[in-house]
Amino acid sequence: MSERRTITEGYAAHIAEIQGRWEAALEAEGFEAALIHAGSMQTSFLDDYEYPFRCNPHLLWWAPLLRHHDSALLVRPGRRPKLFYYQPDDYWYLPPEDPDSWWADHFDVVMANDPDAWLQAGTNERTAYIGDAPCLAEHVAETRLNPQRLVNRIHLERTRKTPYEIACIAEAARLAAIAHTAAAQGFREGLSEYEIHQRYCMSIGLVDAELPYNNIVALNEHSSVLHYQARDQQLPGKIHSFLIDAGATAHGYASDITRSYAAQPGDFADMIEVMDEMQKLLCTAVVAGLDYRELHLHTHLQIAGILKDFDIIRPAAEEAVASGLSSVFYPHGLGHFLGLQTHDVAGLIADADGTMIPRPEGHPFLRLTRVLEAGNVLTIEPGFYFIEPLLRKWRETGDASAINWDRVEALAPSGGIRVEDNVVVTDGEPLNLTREAFAAL
Ligand code: GLY
Ligand code: MN
Ligand code: MN
Repeated sequence: MSERRTITEGYAAHIAEIQGRWEAALEAEGFEAALIHAGSMQTSFLDDYEYPFRCNPHLLWWAPLLRHHDSALLVRPGRRPKLFYYQPDDYWYLPPEDPDSWWADHFDVVMANDPDAWLQAGTNERTAYIGDAPCLAEHVAETRLNPQRLVNRIHLERTRKTPYEIACIAEAARLAAIAHTAAAQGFREGLSEYEIHQRYCMSIGLVDAELPYNNIVALNEHSSVLHYQARDQQLPGKIHSFLIDAGATAHGYASDITRSYAAQPGDFADMIEVMDEMQKLLCTAVVAGLDYRELHLHTHLQIAGILKDFDIIRPAAEEAVASGLSSVFYPHGLGHFLGLQTHDVAGLIADADGTMIPRPEGHPFLRLTRVLEAGNVLTIEPGFYFIEPLLRKWRETGDASAINWDRVEALAPSGGIRVEDNVVVTDGEPLNLTREAFAAL
């Protein structure tokens, strides 16, 4: 069965499910309806050119309206959702195509030539408005615009993916696996960061604006910059390593995948292999009922153990974690929820009040602190890096003798290592969408 059919076959059930979840959330918060606005185009300051459009993810949950600024959806209990589909008579820009029946048949679609058509939606004072289009603030009382408890409820609902959503993320992983393979080939051919990025995009026919986040395409020490954003057109004199953190999208759903490569055999190549094995095991530990914070802390012990085994640090793993030394090399979180947003919603909240589930002390960048449930999709992305400012700070303010500086100097030109997969929590074994996608190529 083609990917596309698998995805679309699950769509009717997805719509029925999220209609039910919205109805329950509206009732719980005392609303009769919700009007979800896609957003509007925004121009840059003192200019008439627009930023790339990113649709309100709450609308994308319902339908793949990726480029559909100024469309809006009315959700009411017991009624088919009503979509105001903005399709202007325009000759400056290409308007959206007619709605595609595989999804549009589930809506009452009102074709709109006017961006304010949603104003005719027949809403009342018990309608909540969800979105950030400036027109909403003009027309809607503040108390009904993105009511926090309602938004929290919906965010929590979005953490349990339907089969349709999982099929979309699997498709995004399949595309990214193709592109990662093309990029790795480009690295082996000696291409620059810029050229590897172009190779990545061309291999799956995506342009930058269609990627879920800025591709991180890093040779050598650039891979120690966690969200490295430049794409050097010059090749370094000697190539040591390559890290690529890059995803793809399917119907608005993201994949988020990282692979690391060494240019030559040696310690760095061996460390990548050890990290890869460790990461694969971590992915198998992702089961319902697990507190993700525990897995994150466990990873610190494991990474400290690897640093010790490779003679980069001197203390035992437990001591390196307790003193904060492991965070010098591994300063980010183990991962995050993944879905319509790369860093998907509700990773840190417990309830509709938005009560924060605290991060472990000393781990300020962890984006997921919840106990895992079936249907969660998340990333597992341990890494370690030779980050000059963090190493310098430790040298100046910590126990400098805990680090083997000769080893750091020798390995720092390789930058760092990260391995990142996308994993579905199920009632049984976890499903590693990334490994499956690479294995299927
Ligand atoms: N690509 C960003 C991240 O892995 O979180
Ligand atoms: Mn990630
Ligand atoms: Mn990533």
